[in-house]
Parts: sequence; structure tokens; C-alpha cells
Amino acid sequence: MSFVIAIDGPAASGKGTLARKLAEHYGLPHLDTGLLYRATACALLDEGLPLDDLHAAVEAARGLSLVDFDEARLRAREMGEAASVVAAMPAVRAALIDMQRAFAARPEGAVLDGRDIGTVICPDASVKIFVTATPETRAQRRALELASRGEPVDYAAILDDVKKRDARDSGRSAAPLKAADDAVTLDTSELDRDEAFAAAVAIAEKARSA
Ligand code: CDP
Repeated sequence: MSFVIAIDGPAASGKGTLARKLAEHYGLPHLDTGLLYRATACALLDEGLPLDDLHAAVEAARGLSLVDFDEARLRAREMGEAASVVAAMPAVRAALIDMQRAFAARPEGAVLDGRDIGTVICPDASVKIFVTATPETRAQRRALELASRGEPVDYAAILDDVKKRDARDSGRSAAPLKAADDAVTLDTSELDRDEAFAAAVAIAEKARSA
């Protein structure tokens, strides 16, 4: 049977790093689904269109190709904020479902991370982990990440971003950010990367042997 790991959680919770390491550990392909929403927003901004142009957003989402992603650009701070605006539109989410499910249906399995993987995209995933950390910890981590890429760092603005995105992602009606009923919550506030990874592997192994 294929092994699908669903990792969800709020902005900068460390789910991306965790998902990448789990994928490497289990030899599975990894899809960071946040990039799909970031790329959709980016396409609108590039064309000078407003983020609430529903028709253009759906067209952009339908036209995405994973291989064309300029990750460095998509991971910029403003793009996360813009992504959460287009991600609140049900039609944009609907346009991205098939691509995500096709990725998850690979015979060997896959690791996907996002906001709604365990609840909407892969409700039957073998393992579901909901990664959290306090907003302050997450803002600190995001600041370090941006600094390591040479981007300007304004901690107060980043913390504000994190909180704004939490509110938008949790409050929207389409696939709001929440843990699936059968997800295991992993709070990484007090854990370093290695400890978080070890805890995630323990959760995955337990689910696998159940
Ligand atoms: O890395 P970070 O957690 O900051 O952001 P991301 O995972 O790249 O997601 C950017 C935005 O896309 C989020 O704030 C969500 O609004 C949206 N998103 C979503 O709605 N559903 C997903 N499966 C993934 C991302």
C-alpha cells in the first residue's frame, strides 16, 4: 500500500522542513502545496492584476506547472501574504485539488505539506501530523530564514504577518486551517529541528505499525 504523509500547520511552523526531511527519510517525493498558492498569487502580481480577480486567479491556478517554479521568488515574505488572499477563494482551491491528489496518488506514496492536506486533499493519508508552535517562535524562525537568504528582517512586521495569516487561514470558510480529527498534533515551540524530526518519525512509525 502506498504511504502518504500529510503535514499541516500554520505559517512558519516548521512543517516544510519537517516534510522535506520525512520525504528524504522514507525516500518519497515531496510537494510543498503552499508554493501552488504562492505561484497563483505571483502570476496575478506579474500581470498587474488585483489579487481578488477571481477569474484571473482561477486561470492562473489551472495553468500552473510545478517545473516552472522560481522558489526563491515565491518564498519572499510578501508572496506568503498574497498567497493567503488567493487561497481563501474556493474556486482557486478547487482548481488545485486534482494536481495535489495526483501527486499523492503516486504508487510509492508521497509527503505533502500545507493547510488542508489531512482534512481535504488526502483524508485517507497513512500519517497526519499537525505542526504548531507559538506565533513568537514562528516569527523568530521566519526571521532567521529570511536573514539567511539575505532578505531584510523586521521582526515586528514578521510577527504581525504571522498573526494576520493565522487569522485569515483559520477564519476562511473554504478549507480553513485546522487539525484533522485523526491528526497527531506536534508542538515544536520547545524543540529544535532534530528533536522535531525524531518526534515526527515516531508518529509516522506508530501510524505505520497500527
Ligand atoms: O511557509 P508558510 O507556512 O509561511 O506558507 P505556505 O505554506 O507557503 O502557504 C502560503 C499561504 O498559502 C498560506 O498562508 C495559506 O493561506 C495558503 N495555503 C493554503 O491555503 N493551503 C495549503 N495547502 C497551502 C497553503
